[in-house]
Amino acid sequence: MTRKTPLLAALPLLMLFGCADGTPPAPPPMDPAVMLAMGDSVSRQAQQVLMRNVAMAMQEGGPAHAVEFCNTRAVPLTDSMATLFGVTLQRLSDRKRNPGNAIATDADREAWKRIGEGKQPFAVQRADGGAWYYKPIFIAMPTCLKCHGGAEDIAAETQAVLAERYPADKAAGYKEGDLRGFWKIGFQPKHTGKHY
Ligand code: HEC
Repeated sequence: MTRKTPLLAALPLLMLFGCADGTPPAPPPMDPAVMLAMGDSVSRQAQQVLMRNVAMAMQEGGPAHAVEFCNTRAVPLTDSMATLFGVTLQRLSDRKRNPGNAIATDADREAWKRIGEGKQPFAVQRADGGAWYYKPIFIAMPTCLKCHGGAEDIAAETQAVLAERYPADKAAGYKEGDLRGFWKIGFQPKHTGKHY
């Protein structure tokens, strides 16, 4: 009877996960159903946290005050949720308010095209192991119009704060039901070290 040494038994595993040139190996592919479920859960919770905080700020000091809140807190809040969930998390738009939320890469443009056509969430597994989730964001309630609607929807005081904080603002003039942008969630970008 032959007995494998522990090292020999571990060899197939080492070959699977180790890389001779020192680059980290691509992580195993994620199940598409898991990506969709996780993406849905993370984006839903992030949306809730953002909206709850905006609603509180609106109650405190009206939409103009809430714009200041979004200006300083929307990205840090999103980032801290990303850390909590162990993902990267962004809201992107072709008509962005925050210049940091621009659709900037070929992968973003491709995702935005697909969002515009299907208006549905979807997940993508890339060859390098990066796993991504995208979900449309709609102007889903009248409240959004107080800051993203037409001139008749946005109070003069709010317009003044928007003009001051966002001189290149493109995120006004929407109607209820319009596609406003999309959530972009990366499950394994830290591992691949790549950004799309
Ligand atoms: C109180 C004003 C206010 C309300 C209400 C509001 N937003 Fe915004 N929204 C902002 C501001 C300000 C930003 C830019 C935040 C930043 O600087 O990161 C923003 C950014 C966004 C972005 C990120 C893309 C970009 O343009 O930078 C999306 C998507 C978005 N809002 C969707 C919505 C939706 C959908 C609603 C309604 C459910 C909503 N917003 C309600 C003020 C508001």
